[in-house]
Amino acid sequence: MDFTDNQNLNNYKEAIEDKLRTVATSSQPASLYEPIRYAIEAGGKRLRPIILLAACEAVGGNPEDALDAGIAVELLHTFTLIHDDIMDADTWRRARETVHKKWDTSSAILAGDAIFVLAYQSLLRTKIKNIKAVIDLFNEGVLGVCEGQALDMTLESKSDVSNSEYLEMIEKKTGMMIAMAAGVGAFIGGAKSAEVKKFKEFGAALGKAFQLQDDYLEITSTRILMGKSLGSDLAKGKKTFLLINAFKLGSEEQIEELSTILDKNEVTTTDIKRVREIFEECGVLDLTKKQIEKNILNSRSLLDFIELEKRQTLLQLIDLVHSREK
Ligand code: IPE
Ligand code: IPE
Ligand code: MG
Ligand code: MG
Repeated sequence: MDFTDNQNLNNYKEAIEDKLRTVATSSQPASLYEPIRYAIEAGGKRLRPIILLAACEAVGGNPEDALDAGIAVELLHTFTLIHDDIMDADTWRRARETVHKKWDTSSAILAGDAIFVLAYQSLLRTKIKNIKAVIDLFNEGVLGVCEGQALDMTLESKSDVSNSEYLEMIEKKTGMMIAMAAGVGAFIGGAKSAEVKKFKEFGAALGKAFQLQDDYLEITSTRILMGKSLGSDLAKGKKTFLLINAFKLGSEEQIEELSTILDKNEVTTTDIKRVREIFEECGVLDLTKKQIEKNILNSRSLLDFIELEKRQTLLQLIDLVHSREK
């Protein structure tokens, strides 16, 4: 995602990168701090802290006041990715080996735990009277992600998953963190609780679009472009929007072929290509695009209550999310 066309977004990104370099400076034990720095410095789009800072500014706050909370959300996200890669048995993330692949599972669990603590330390640096309210919002987001990840695992072994079960799962595993980022940013910027609620709704809709797109890109993009392992959705039998609807819309032969690929332990790039063809043929790629569009439009209209000038940066951010290729 290229933020250089928008001065605000670009400034947020730079401030986040600068600050992230200061959060884990301890060196001993190296077996803990090396994987921690490796994960934090690997990069990533920094989407969640950027949303947090943009939400703060959109309600008239000073984004500098929200930087520590933004860093906290990015650290939380990084921690969830390390543990998610263990759970999904993925070996490639942010254009490098996953922490558990480069070190081992125990080191990755521990690095994740410590990054979670660094996240709270950063959150608590926020200078605001009602820090308890910020922590409450943060915790609500964290618990939502855990619930979503639990549902994600449960659905792996369930055969007849409905669209609404899928949507509940992604609203939690991806939507709740993005919703929380928007809500925390608005709260630090001085928003009242009704406005914070609206920011959370906006983040939840954007988060849903983001995860639908992630499912779509997992099947249409490449490992090089995305910088992460693709194919684990199929290998692990993840119930993505595409798969659920292919089972509804596909012909008997297509469903049989999909089932054969899903039963394999190793999924090859040829398998992914074939699944992509089936998804295309039975109209699932188009259907997913429409569903992404619907949630993107919804996220835009949920910001209508903010003056047009003040919501410009967030609207541009939505466009960048919509057109992302990685
Ligand atoms: C990956 O999030 C996890 C999902 C919710 C799909 P991002 O795509 O934002 O990951 P980074 O931070 O840019 O690496
Ligand atoms: C990401 O879920 C959600 C969290 C990390 C909490 P996925 O497992 O679908 O995302 P990727 O494809 O590994 O980035
Ligand atoms: Mg994963
Ligand atoms: Mg996962």
